[in-house]
Amino acid sequence: MTFEEAEVRAKQLKEAIEKHNYSYYILALPTISDFEYDLLLKELIDLEALYPQLQTSDSPTQRVGSDIDNEFTQVRHKYPMMSLSNTYSESDLTEFDLRIHKLISDIPIEYVCELKFDGTAIGLTYKNGVLVQAVTRGDGEKGDDVTVNVRTIKSIPLKLHSSDYPSEFEVRGEIFMPHASFQRLNKERIEAGDTPFANPRNAAAGTLKLLNSSEVAKRGLDCFIYHMLGDNLPFQSHYENLQKAKEWGLKVSDHARKCSTLEEVFGFIHYWDEERKNLPYDTDGVVLKVNSYTLQKQLGFTAKSPRWATAYKFKPEQAVTQLISVDFQVGRTGAITPVANLEPVALAGTTVKRASLHNADQIELLDIRLNDWVVVEKGGEIIPKIVGIDKSRREEGSEPFHYITNCPVCGTLLVKDEGEAKHYCPNDTGCTPQIIGRIEHFISRRAMNIDGLGAETADTLYNKGLIKDIADLYELKKERLEVLDRMGSKSAENIVAGIEQSKNVPFQRVLFAIGIRFVGETTAKKLAEALKSLDAIRHATREELLEVDEIGDKIADSIIAFFLKPKNIELLDRLKKAGLQFSLNEDEFKPLSDKLAGLGIVISGNFVKHSREELKQLIEKHGGKNLSAVSSTTSYLLAGDKMGTSKLQKAEKLGVKIISEDDFLNLMA
Ligand code: IVH
Repeated sequence: MTFEEAEVRAKQLKEAIEKHNYSYYILALPTISDFEYDLLLKELIDLEALYPQLQTSDSPTQRVGSDIDNEFTQVRHKYPMMSLSNTYSESDLTEFDLRIHKLISDIPIEYVCELKFDGTAIGLTYKNGVLVQAVTRGDGEKGDDVTVNVRTIKSIPLKLHSSDYPSEFEVRGEIFMPHASFQRLNKERIEAGDTPFANPRNAAAGTLKLLNSSEVAKRGLDCFIYHMLGDNLPFQSHYENLQKAKEWGLKVSDHARKCSTLEEVFGFIHYWDEERKNLPYDTDGVVLKVNSYTLQKQLGFTAKSPRWATAYKFKPEQAVTQLISVDFQVGRTGAITPVANLEPVALAGTTVKRASLHNADQIELLDIRLNDWVVVEKGGEIIPKIVGIDKSRREEGSEPFHYITNCPVCGTLLVKDEGEAKHYCPNDTGCTPQIIGRIEHFISRRAMNIDGLGAETADTLYNKGLIKDIADLYELKKERLEVLDRMGSKSAENIVAGIEQSKNVPFQRVLFAIGIRFVGETTAKKLAEALKSLDAIRHATREELLEVDEIGDKIADSIIAFFLKPKNIELLDRLKKAGLQFSLNEDEFKPLSDKLAGLGIVISGNFVKHSREELKQLIEKHGGKNLSAVSSTTSYLLAGDKMGTSKLQKAEKLGVKIISEDDFLNLMA
């Protein structure tokens, strides 16, 4: 196929796929089967592989994301991203309406009532109909540029339909995770030994900030558009512009209504307070907006929010029931969590038997006692919480609740560090749930990702005495596994192969897997990059640890405490002998030249040829030092697109040389 033919076909395919995306994700009326859709996409992927110049940023193939870690640059919002005043009371809405009538002469006001979607806010900029940037709220002034992740959300058009849109404008909306995606994600997380998300809102916000956009693509995020900004919008009113946005292919909710009286507004609220339970996503209220832009301008803003809009929040559903007993769970790090056992009660579509009590302070604050009648609430969380007590129904002679002093499993005296809310069991090497928790963490997907070995099997291995710690895994033999109940020869073989395979897992993940308290995935990566080997980390001074990006006092102390324990050192020695990666891959940090020796370079902005991570590695591989802030000792500021203005100003003031990506690459040529 010639390039010209491929170009014509790619254009047809891109349009057809986007049309099907629209039918599927926005209209919910698919017109072809998944199989036919996949065929079209595959054809386009193949064409773009043949002619990479056809792979434009608005191509539907770009929605699958990439495995390259991205770092988010902060960008300033063109229009500040404000929040809304909010209330739980209908009389406040009456006052809102009165205030508006007072501020503008007494003419009838047209309101728009919308659902308040419970997710995370996003600003999308379209230039000439193409999505060019997606920015989170951040602090309202500046947010994170999460465009790479947002491109993977299928209900957000990469290119708009028709052509009567302004050459540049911004839409704001809510990125959320529908219930179905949320349940699927949490099921996967539990199976993989990861902590499930507490609610769809956290899941959406967490997903949007993931460093790996191909993971974002898999999680099924969605987005409703509820606000438009720009100089040349087609109408002078909110509702009409939203309807136009729908024609352009943006996903706008069908549930928005224009209301001309407060009675209609209350009608909308009452209807949705009940009906929202049948929606496939979370809503937490209703947003009331003045429709006319002229009136919106007249009303203006307070310091924090517009005077022309407000949010009415639905009250979380509550139920009253009796507290039977309190259990104490011990986590992988020894943290104790009290859990209330309740007389079963119906709440928001499920039967509630347990509720979280958080910690000792919470129990004391509420003065919860056994057999008390407690108010439970589902505030969007899966696990309901106890928010109050009906003291009038308290039994006579009841005693204040005494928090446990010793570990419910191993009996060790609990400790509570200053500034920490939770009690801890310090017996990390002898307390069963901590040992099992550490094994489960070690084998989990984000850590060693041992194929064929799930949390349940690991528990069995421990309970049957086949393993006592993570190092024992590397001594497991197929023959010993085979004798376990429900374990076939094939499964046993898979487990042994998976364990063997895990010896190739890169050092930064091994560092995360060994479970040093407070050393999460990102910290492990930073530590590994900075200090290169487990030995170096073990022998690093507190000062050296504190020099590593993102490591503060709490983490540094925890690392030091970990390496002070002989049992940990012994365990690490056994893992090292087993053949796990205890240092960064030699090739990853073998010097390529000393062309940048003695140079300190600060990177800022987005680049065309390399990711920021790759540039950082290039600096180090050529003997230079990657610095995070501009100072008088900085040799160069490597400036990309949309770089931070403060860095630029500082570099100019200090006379630091500013270089482009090409200048930089030439330094090493
Ligand atoms: S309008 C200036 N409409 O609720 C007006 N917000 O605190 C901008 N939200 O930040 C907001 N659904 O994240 C608006 N239909 C809706 C909304 C909505 C959810 C979120 C949004 C906003 C927050 C208000």
